[in-house]
Amino acid sequence: MAVTNLQHVGIEVPDIQTGLDFYGDAGLETYARDGVGVVGCVGRSQDQLKLIEGTRKKLHHVCFGTSESGYSLIKFRLENGGIELLDAPNESPEEGLWVRDPDGIYVNIRIADPAPSFGGPEALGDQATWPTNTPGHFERHGLRAAPPRDVQVNPRRLGHILQFTPDVSRKIEFYTRMLGMRVADRVGDLIAFMYLQGGSDHHVVALAKSDGPGLHHASFEMANADHISLNAQRMVEKGHRSHWGFGRHVIGSNFFHYMRDPWDGLIEFFSDIDYIPDGYDWEAGEWPEKDSLYLWGPQVPEDFVTNYELVH
Ligand SMILES: [Fe+2]
Repeated sequence: MAVTNLQHVGIEVPDIQTGLDFYGDAGLETYARDGVGVVGCVGRSQDQLKLIEGTRKKLHHVCFGTSESGYSLIKFRLENGGIELLDAPNESPEEGLWVRDPDGIYVNIRIADPAPSFGGPEALGDQATWPTNTPGHFERHGLRAAPPRDVQVNPRRLGHILQFTPDVSRKIEFYTRMLGMRVADRVGDLIAFMYLQGGSDHHVVALAKSDGPGLHHASFEMANADHISLNAQRMVEKGHRSHWGFGRHVIGSNFFHYMRDPWDGLIEFFSDIDYIPDGYDWEAGEWPEKDSLYLWGPQVPEDFVTNYELVH
C-alpha cells in the first residue's frame, strides 16, 4: 500500500498575484481561494500548485493521494516509524495526514484519486496520437503535421517534481519506506528518480543533491513536442525567460523545455515520458553522471542546478 498519485505542490511566494500571472501565462488556470493562489490545468478538477503567502519563494509541501486502505496503512507506518503526525499548518489548513520529511518539508497525504486529463484524445483531435512519418514508414497519409499557429496549447497535468535535498539517500528511505514509492533510476548520491506503484510515469518525485532542501522544478505534461515548444515560445513573447530546451532527457526519456519563474525557480513542460506499468518488473538503473541531465539539447545553463531557495 502506498501513495498512488501526486495531487499538488504547495509553494510559498512573496507575492501571490505575480505567481498567478506567471502560471496563467503558462497556459494554466489560476484563481484565488481562501487567501491562497490556486493553479490548475484547464478542464481538470484537481489543484496542481498552491501559492501560499510567504517572505520568499520556498517549497512548502507536497500532497499525495491514496486509497482508503492505503491511507490507514501509511498512517500506521508513519506512527510506527517514529514520524510525528502533525496538525495541518495554519497557512494551509487542509485535510489528511501531515508530517515532515527528513528535510523538514511538509508532506500531506489524503484519500484522493487523480482527476482525468481534460478531454482525452477527443480534445486533441489529430494531435492525440501525434502520428509520425519515419523512413519507409508513414503514419500520416496525406495529412499535414504542423499544427495551426494559433492552436490552443495547455499543460494537461502536473507530472512530477524535482526536489533539492542535502541527503538523497535519506530522502529516498522516507519516500520508499513510508510512502511506498520505488526508485526508477539513480546517479549515485547525486540524483534519484522515484515512481508510484500501480502504473506510473518513470518519475513522479525526483531528488537532486544540494546544500539544503528546495523545489528545483514542477513539471507539466504537454500533448506533444509541438505543444511544449509553442507554449515556451508564447511565454517568451510575453516576456518570460526561457531557461533550457528544447531537448530530451536520458533518464525518463522525456522531451523538455524549462522556463524561469519570477523567483528564479523553474517550471518544466514535458512530453513522451517513459511509463512503468502496474506490476512491471522495472530494473532500476545506476547511471553515469554524464547521463543525469540530457541526451541532446542546447548546452546546460550554468545555473541549471543552482538552488535559488538558498540564495534569495
Ligand atoms: Fe523534470
